[in-house]
Amino acid sequence: MADIRQLLRDLPVFGGDLPTFDPVDTPDEPVALFTTWLLAAVEAQIPEPHAMTVSTAGADGNPSARTLILKDIDADGWRFAAHADSVKGKELADRRYAALTFYWQPLARQVRVRGPVVRESAERAAQDFLARGAGARAEALLGRQSRPLTDLAERDAAVAESAARLAREPELVAPGWQLFTVRADEVEFWQGDQERKHTRLAYRRKGDAEVWTKGLLWP
Ligand SMILES: Cc1cc2nc3c(=O)[nH]c(=O)nc-3n(C[C@H](O)[C@H](O)[C@H](O)COP(=O)(O)O)c2cc1C
Repeated sequence: MADIRQLLRDLPVFGGDLPTFDPVDTPDEPVALFTTWLLAAVEAQIPEPHAMTVSTAGADGNPSARTLILKDIDADGWRFAAHADSVKGKELADRRYAALTFYWQPLARQVRVRGPVVRESAERAAQDFLARGAGARAEALLGRQSRPLTDLAERDAAVAESAARLAREPELVAPGWQLFTVRADEVEFWQGDQERKHTRLAYRRKGDAEVWTKGLLWP
């Protein structure tokens, strides 16, 4: 155990050639800055820069978090899709708030987003489902996500059955497929620094309007 502790202590963080971040010259609202940072992550060829940690809480207040793929972002917010029957789907039905965390390691950049979650129309959810690849649609059609599975052969048979059904019915949309938008009321941009002089810029929505305040935070 002492070896693991030492190994963890010796692992480097915030190495490499890091970008600079000037918080003075930033947009008045966070979506534009997020888009700039996402495009920088794509440009830097960071694998899966659209993968994010989505945190939710159930009625008991206990948090749970998992990685999901960002589907879209616009003035309304950050979008992801999930099955109503999954743990996250049920938690969002209980408590319509989520937090998103992006970490782009080679750039030492983190973005945190918090806010209420809006469930989009069935039509938009269907569009999202139909835009998924064949394998992802077959998996989503399974339902039963996060429920106990007896053995892997059962999974493989169910996936094959789903794929065959989708081949017969290409317009089929998994019942319970939902598209969610996090309408952020707080967004924080964090730029890591080798000397630990990290730069943090936090946006806060003013009331219900599209008006934001922004300010620095201590690292
Ligand atoms: C990179 C990555 C991307 C993922 N994308 C999704 C996704 O888009 N949708 C999804 O339901 N699960 C996705 N998962 C699996 C989830 O992290 C999670 O295991 C699953 O959704 C069950 O979560 P729940 O039990 O909290 O509902 C992804 C996992 C990883 C590592």
